[in-house]
Amino acid sequence: MAACIVEPILSSGGVIDPPAGYFAALKRKCEERGMLLIVDEAQTGLCRTGSWYAFERDGIVPDILTLSKTLGAGLPLAAVITTAEIEQAAHDRGYLFFTTHVSDPLVAAVGVTVLDVLQRDGLDTRAAQAGSALRAGLLELQERHECVGDVRGRGLMQGIELVTDRATKQGADRLGSAVTARCFELGLHMNVVQLPGMGGIFRIAPPLTASDEEIRTGLDILDTAIAECVSAAV
Ligand SMILES: Cc1ncc(COP(=O)(O)O)c(C=O)c1O
Repeated sequence: MAACIVEPILSSGGVIDPPAGYFAALKRKCEERGMLLIVDEAQTGLCRTGSWYAFERDGIVPDILTLSKTLGAGLPLAAVITTAEIEQAAHDRGYLFFTTHVSDPLVAAVGVTVLDVLQRDGLDTRAAQAGSALRAGLLELQERHECVGDVRGRGLMQGIELVTDRATKQGADRLGSAVTARCFELGLHMNVVQLPGMGGIFRIAPPLTASDEEIRTGLDILDTAIAECVSAAV
């Protein structure tokens, strides 16, 4: 096989954070087989997890890195980053990629500005700080609400899993939908994972610029929504 493409944290797949060392092992396995390791950091890259790139945790450098989302600050911008050697090999083999908007100067300028602002404002450090406050708040919700079965993630990408029973870990899809709707009424847009059977998992990824107060407000709304929906279901 030519390559292995992975997300460092499965984001929309339920906020699954593989254990430390997983990607170092994967990189070794790729090297043994002459495969490239492509890391998709569309969601996790550019400070979200508390470091510039989530792959840094495992001390690896991917052969190819893909970025999107944060890079364009809302504009449609994505990037493929690789080594000069791999780029040359792609040219030598006649690889061709184009779209109408390839290398558009306007969005490229936005992307460069995003990188400058992330660096200028130390948003990696900020995401780590805000992420630990968010995580502490979510763990506190888990202590008080039996239906919060798991809290996982890194930095400002956190997930919580609502369950009907902590022992069986059966997902609480209906409760997840009810909590999402109630949060929305109370002013919090919650991103519930939409895959079938995974409606009890929330992917929580606030803006990197969210203030401590906004994070606290979000946690309070989530707390209220969970309490109300659980008591309505009893
Ligand atoms: C992990 C991941 N990779 C890639 C993409 C695709 O990004 P884009 O549509 O900007 O190319 C997405 C979009 O949701 C994503 O979440």
